[in-house]
Amino acid sequence: MADKMHLKLTINGEQFETLCEPRELLIHVLRERFNITGPHIGCETSHCGACTVDLDGKSVKACTLFAAQAQGATITTVEGLASPEGMHVLQEMFREHHGLQCGYCTPGMITRAWRLLQENPDPTEEEVRFGMAGNLCRCTGYQNIIKAILAAAAIMNGRDAAADDAVKTPEEVA
Ligand code: FES
Ligand code: FES
Repeated sequence: MADKMHLKLTINGEQFETLCEPRELLIHVLRERFNITGPHIGCETSHCGACTVDLDGKSVKACTLFAAQAQGATITTVEGLASPEGMHVLQEMFREHHGLQCGYCTPGMITRAWRLLQENPDPTEEEVRFGMAGNLCRCTGYQNIIKAILAAAAIMNGRDAAADDAVKTPEEVA
């Protein structure tokens, strides 16, 4: 058995430490050692995005990153997006626009959308579709997810989300 390493992370503003083996994946350390279960395990092959977390300002798939590679990093998960005042506007808009059904993809979707809106605060619909391409949903058909993200962007830019409500079909975007 390999020597254990002393892993230190800042997650959602709190310090976490553990001894882990170099082979352990970040998603397993988050969920099983720290009980941070917002990021889900789907494909474990970097395809579905259910495990998406934010690591030092980038969206990453925690199922294909060794925890050791995150040593010293600052991580945000879906649990870290709400504030004492309430849910994040993205969370509100996913609820408002029914951007989920089973909810399995939702923590990864919202965490990725949160970073996307920091990279591009007022994206077009096409830019949202492109920016979210690494996150798969087997339930919704994506329309309401895109609508929710655009509505959140509109609100964050001081516009009336209802006025921005028309989302095209993928065929219309193409
Ligand atoms: S579980 Fe990580 S991308 Fe699917
Ligand atoms: S809501 Fe079920 S996988 Fe997206």
